Amino acid sequence: MTTKDPIVIEQSSGTSGQHIQRTRIRFDFPEQGMPRITYWGRSQSIAPIRTGNLYSAQQAQTLDAGMSESEFLSVLPTQAEGWTGEPSIVISRNGMLVYPSFAPTAVNSTDNSCTIEAISQDDAIAISLHFAIDSSGIITEWATLRNLSETALHVTALRLQLPIPPQVCELQTCTGHHLRERAPQRQPLTEGYFSKQIRTGRTDFNAATLLAVGVPGFSFEHGLIYGVHFGWSGNSATFAQRTPYTHGTIGGGELLEPGELILRKEEEYTTPTLFAVCGDGLNEIGTQFHSFIRAQHPKLRNGIRPVILNTWEAMYFEQDEDKITKLAHKAAELGIERFVIDDGWFSGRRNDTTSLGDWQPDRTIWPQGLSNVAATVHNLGMEFGLWFEPEMISPISVIAQQHPDWILAPNQHRLPMSSRQQQVIDLTNEDAKQYIHQCIRTLVKECGIDYIKWDHNRFLTEAISQHSGQVAVHGQTLAAYNIMDLLQKEFPSLEIESCSSGGGRIDAGILQRTDRVWASDCTDPIERADIQRYTSLLVPPEMIGEHISESPNHATGRTTTLTTRAAMALFGHLGIEWNIMKLQHQEYDELKEWIAIYKNLRANILSADVIHVDTPDPSLRVDGVVSPSRQHAVFRIATVSTSQEQPYGLIRFPGLDENATYTVKPLAGVKRYSTELSPTTRSQLGWWNDQGTQVSGDVLVQWGIRLPHIMPEHAILVELEQQE
Ligand code: GLA
Repeated sequence: MTTKDPIVIEQSSGTSGQHIQRTRIRFDFPEQGMPRITYWGRSQSIAPIRTGNLYSAQQAQTLDAGMSESEFLSVLPTQAEGWTGEPSIVISRNGMLVYPSFAPTAVNSTDNSCTIEAISQDDAIAISLHFAIDSSGIITEWATLRNLSETALHVTALRLQLPIPPQVCELQTCTGHHLRERAPQRQPLTEGYFSKQIRTGRTDFNAATLLAVGVPGFSFEHGLIYGVHFGWSGNSATFAQRTPYTHGTIGGGELLEPGELILRKEEEYTTPTLFAVCGDGLNEIGTQFHSFIRAQHPKLRNGIRPVILNTWEAMYFEQDEDKITKLAHKAAELGIERFVIDDGWFSGRRNDTTSLGDWQPDRTIWPQGLSNVAATVHNLGMEFGLWFEPEMISPISVIAQQHPDWILAPNQHRLPMSSRQQQVIDLTNEDAKQYIHQCIRTLVKECGIDYIKWDHNRFLTEAISQHSGQVAVHGQTLAAYNIMDLLQKEFPSLEIESCSSGGGRIDAGILQRTDRVWASDCTDPIERADIQRYTSLLVPPEMIGEHISESPNHATGRTTTLTTRAAMALFGHLGIEWNIMKLQHQEYDELKEWIAIYKNLRANILSADVIHVDTPDPSLRVDGVVSPSRQHAVFRIATVSTSQEQPYGLIRFPGLDENATYTVKPLAGVKRYSTELSPTTRSQLGWWNDQGTQVSGDVLVQWGIRLPHIMPEHAILVELEQQE
């Protein structure tokens, strides 16, 4: 360690093509001990941020009844530094807790990254902490812990956390359950500790997704926000805390059970990545995540997100070759480009009681082989997709009878409580992992599978490997990642969708290796309004599966118009989840038109900024996709309940260029919205026709215009195009 000078790392990025924003982190170095982060954030300033000694400028005075040094969160706070908040590191040897005291041994930085190496000499452990700022503005942080001793080191926690400034004291996370994923919840960040802990062995419906702390009242459009997301698909905790001595910290880490992670000499544990983000309003946070995740998926950039037909809600387990073949022909006629066979295709699977793990096509369903059906689909000009649930096993299956020890279980005599009559296959057992990998790759090759819907339909409870005797959630998560990585490497054009009873596995770890998420099993457009909104805090729209399904909806029984259902699915990756054989003429024609409308729009969605509009009316959801050049935008105005207002007040269109003039008109013609309009209005809205009207950007952004009064639980779409 030579440097005591502060280190500032920085990265510039544009926001909506307008201003150059700089994300920065400043590290200050005390005389002894680990560096302190004295500033991190995002601004347009070019301030001389390296100036001065911020360690001394920010260090609190010591007081009676305190420690001899005041608490000052380091990059890895420990009790040796007097930190009494959430411990960053919980480790033990021979059943005894180890209290490390780290001293930096090296600090290496570039313009936009910094690695801090440190050692706790007496305890024979080394750690390195990595910080990097991506061109999206997102900060990534991860740590690697190494055991230098002959004695095994048990790791129970290695949590990453960052300080926050005093004014951000309102907390927003998501909560949820099956069919209602990612619902927002708000509360003040008072003194104390808030943690969103997930122990279901997957990311879960109930995950924080984004833990955001902002200035009171922060919204989609406004307000300083600091946030974290933990990029991990196993057990995790995301947290925020405030102590009497600190303004607060936010962070995350893996939740590990005793004995789950043991490091022998020279073995290492690398944490999953903590994503930290700062912005003005949630829309700006979302834009940064979208830019980060889009950069990881160059293959999605060709402008084509093929329209999907998924067989689940069309026929559930009632598959047979004749029915599927007819459906495929109808789908191709309709303009579908990817045909996905959901659950029910493999050996013995006629309902959800059996057969997971027997990943061989059922000869009674496919007398001519599944590859024959795949060929039919390909010959119709569509891609072929297939459902798998690779991490699961049915106790009633050939594979479970052959290898009962491949099931994760608390002991040899008892299985975990059943869920959907299935258990978890132990992918930390190399034999089981290879079997699953081989089953999938064989079918990908044989059938030319273009797309896998990768499902995960139960919690991991009492998840002990009968092979290693250890809790297996950590290893299981890595093994599933590894199978996905191997498949992606061998089949570079293969697309994988992350599904977990709907939207139970959506995080930046899985998004690194999958190209689409199934946001929810609930395809009801009114429920989807918020599910998709909050999913889009993290996931770019073109990676969110949004399907048009039957009405009444299978999950809620709600009746909606086709226009509402299509409008709600149009800003994502469009699919159909409906038995299209049953469609009446008019419905068929309308659906075909919506598919064509999506095809016109989809190239724009690939790079669009997603804008959610702050509205004082709680019944309204106004959301838009705006091109980075701001030349083109489409906004959806949806009503999720009745409103206090009648007719609706002015609707604004933030995200547009305030210096330009726009033509505003109903997307794809006024006639398709007749089902949405309120029957109680007695006059026409002047501009609501195919020609639309011209309005300047500043009026649209700041004041807005009237939209037709629509009925509750309906939606319309407007297109805004800059005039030359
Ligand atoms: C889960 C998925 C559904 C469907 C079924 C099949 O519930 O979320 O979309 O694939 O499994 O069993």
